[in-house]
Amino acid sequence: MTDIKKLSASAPIGVFDSGVGGLTVVNEIISQIPSERIVYFGDTARVPYGGKSKETITMYAEQIVRFLLEQGVKAIVVACNTASAYALDTLEKEIDIPIIGVVKPGAKTAAETTKNGRIGIIGTEGTVGSRIYEQYISRISPASHVVGKACPLFCPLVEEGLLDDPVTDEIARRYLEGMKGSGIDTLILGCTHYPLIRTTIERVMGKDVALVNPAWETAHALKDLLTEEGILNPEAGDADLKKHRFYVSDSAEKFGRFASTVLKYEGISAETVRIEEY
Ligand code: DGL
Repeated sequence: MTDIKKLSASAPIGVFDSGVGGLTVVNEIISQIPSERIVYFGDTARVPYGGKSKETITMYAEQIVRFLLEQGVKAIVVACNTASAYALDTLEKEIDIPIIGVVKPGAKTAAETTKNGRIGIIGTEGTVGSRIYEQYISRISPASHVVGKACPLFCPLVEEGLLDDPVTDEIARRYLEGMKGSGIDTLILGCTHYPLIRTTIERVMGKDVALVNPAWETAHALKDLLTEEGILNPEAGDADLKKHRFYVSDSAEKFGRFASTVLKYEGISAETVRIEEY
């Protein structure tokens, strides 16, 4: 068992997702708490998570957490809505270092952003089907009305790098048509891949709908948590991304190229891990 009191503030933070989506959360962590070092794991061999069962996602998440613990992380961020929805409860019981997901922070931001109490949530089939955002939002703002829509093709489009592409535009129009007519004034990007196609979603939804990216609030919540636990890295932050480590379960080169674009830092390389052995 890890004794949290013995955890060094200079230890890294583990962040994981099914693929590249969690990099949108990494971006926020780097900008809000630049002193922290990150060990990132993208499950590129098993992406997408969105249509898989709770049991499968929980097993994947447990393997990744075991790998991250082996890297000596002091806290874990589940930078994936699907894994947060399905596996966070179980993971919280199994490990004794701080762990947070993206759903609770995202729900909080949405409840604080809406003016008319009508909130949309787009995400994977798993996240939308679990109704977890509704549950959190109703606790904060019981009168709010939440409309959900699964957008399963968005994740593979992002993984393929089709971020600004007519195909993505067309799919977005089809998925979001109903959402547009539902009177929402706030839309949660309930999958960490979606901020990467934010411009397309914005174009389709129009300027009257506020888009909520849970990544910002997640990084904020992480900073609070590290401070509370007394393990916030006190060193001055540095912008050198070389201090971070990136691991994937497949296609390390492709991931490295993509990560370099998302994090705007040339030459990011990733290492492949046989995650099924953890
Ligand atoms: N980026 C993940 C999420 O936030 C998973 C997408 C997927 O793998 O289907 O849900």
